[in-house]
Amino acid sequence: MEKILFINACIRDCSRTLRLARHLLDRLAIAAAGNFDSTVRENSGSDAAGKYDSNAVQIRGAAVEEVDLRKEKIQAISSFDPLERRERMVREGRTDAPELKYARQFADADTIVIAAPYWDLAFPAILKIYLEQVTVTGVTFRYSPEGRPVGMCKARRLFYVMTSGGPAIFNMGYDYICTLCRNFFGIEDIRLFKAENLDIAGNDPEQIMASALACVDKAAEAEAEAEAEEKKL
Ligand SMILES: Cc1cc2nc3c(=O)[nH]c(=O)nc-3n(C[C@H](O)[C@H](O)[C@H](O)COP(=O)(O)O)c2cc1C
Repeated sequence: MEKILFINACIRDCSRTLRLARHLLDRLAIAAAGNFDSTVRENSGSDAAGKYDSNAVQIRGAAVEEVDLRKEKIQAISSFDPLERRERMVREGRTDAPELKYARQFADADTIVIAAPYWDLAFPAILKIYLEQVTVTGVTFRYSPEGRPVGMCKARRLFYVMTSGGPAIFNMGYDYICTLCRNFFGIEDIRLFKAENLDIAGNDPEQIMASALACVDKAAEAEAEAEAEEKKL
């Protein structure tokens, strides 16, 4: 069963980024089930408000585990003690230690979805705090004898979902995720889904969102077609 890890860094209760991400998760679940049968969507675990009823829901063909960063309340690393402790855990082979839970979960996922609004040209700080918990030598990456990071993550692909008030010309959040994933975690295939200019006076945010949701559908359909072609070969 495909393991999808959903990292939810959306802050607002009526987050548009979350709406886009939930739509993508539904499409991924449908794709994992191997067909586009609408009953899968109905049974997909999200209610009318787009909320999953538990942190780990099983959708036919995929298990979605959600890390809701608003709820997790992860402490920022502000001393060397936790870093030394987790280094010791890895050295002693205690990778099941609670200190390493986020890194372990990240390393084990087949597909990762990160949803974060565009804040101050990047993303909310809770996502950086989470990523510091994930970037652990010996769990999500290791160093080669030449001192280069080598990825230890299983994930084939990562989706970054964002929405912004204006144009996200300097997309530092997405750029950072790409650089970190490719250079440390070994995740090469990173895809962006976004809705921009939502807060610009005169724009119709509903229309912009509808186009962004349609982009997700189009990408999912293109992928399903490509997979069907591959199976034929
Ligand atoms: C703290 C904060 C910082 C923001 N910074 C930017 C920014 O730098 N550029 C921009 O275009 N929009 C910015 N916005 C607007 C949001 O990106 C936009 O409203 C987005 O759609 C919010 O996503 P959400 O609906 O998922 O909360 C900011 C909003 C907040 C609350």
